[in-house]
Amino acid sequence: MPDPTRRTVVCGLLAGLVAPVSLAACSSSTDTPPATPPASTGGGGTAGGGGTPLAKLADVPVGGGTIVNGGPGKVLLVRPTENEVRGFDPVCPHAGVTVSAPSGSTITCPGHGSVFNASNGDVQKGPATTGLTPVAVKINGDSIVTA
Ligand code: FES
Repeated sequence: MPDPTRRTVVCGLLAGLVAPVSLAACSSSTDTPPATPPASTGGGGTAGGGGTPLAKLADVPVGGGTIVNGGPGKVLLVRPTENEVRGFDPVCPHAGVTVSAPSGSTITCPGHGSVFNASNGDVQKGPATTGLTPVAVKINGDSIVTA
């Protein structure tokens, strides 16, 4: 019986201790790298050619809005008219506080009182100096989805 080499003994001991872990130093040069999983399409639940569902249209009142937790994260949805929706990142550009849902034609940040136009996200009153970041959304049947 041949004497085991020092490497064989060490690798055998390590394999016994950390069996689930791949021991690259113990593998031969003919090993192939692990298969790469297929890339995600990121479009789960996208029936009908729409994007990621965010909310039911009926859940966003005309002339108002709501904050939903959708595929891209939190999205502030506003619905200026029956057949028009807009989306914004609800993170205030001033210091990162989440803004409130629209009240009438404005969106207010509870952090330091900035006010934004609910129709287009433009800043109307500081301290924020820029408006809310738009998020592309659209109506798809009875739902609001990412565009
Ligand atoms: S974080 Fe919104 S006004 Fe300061």
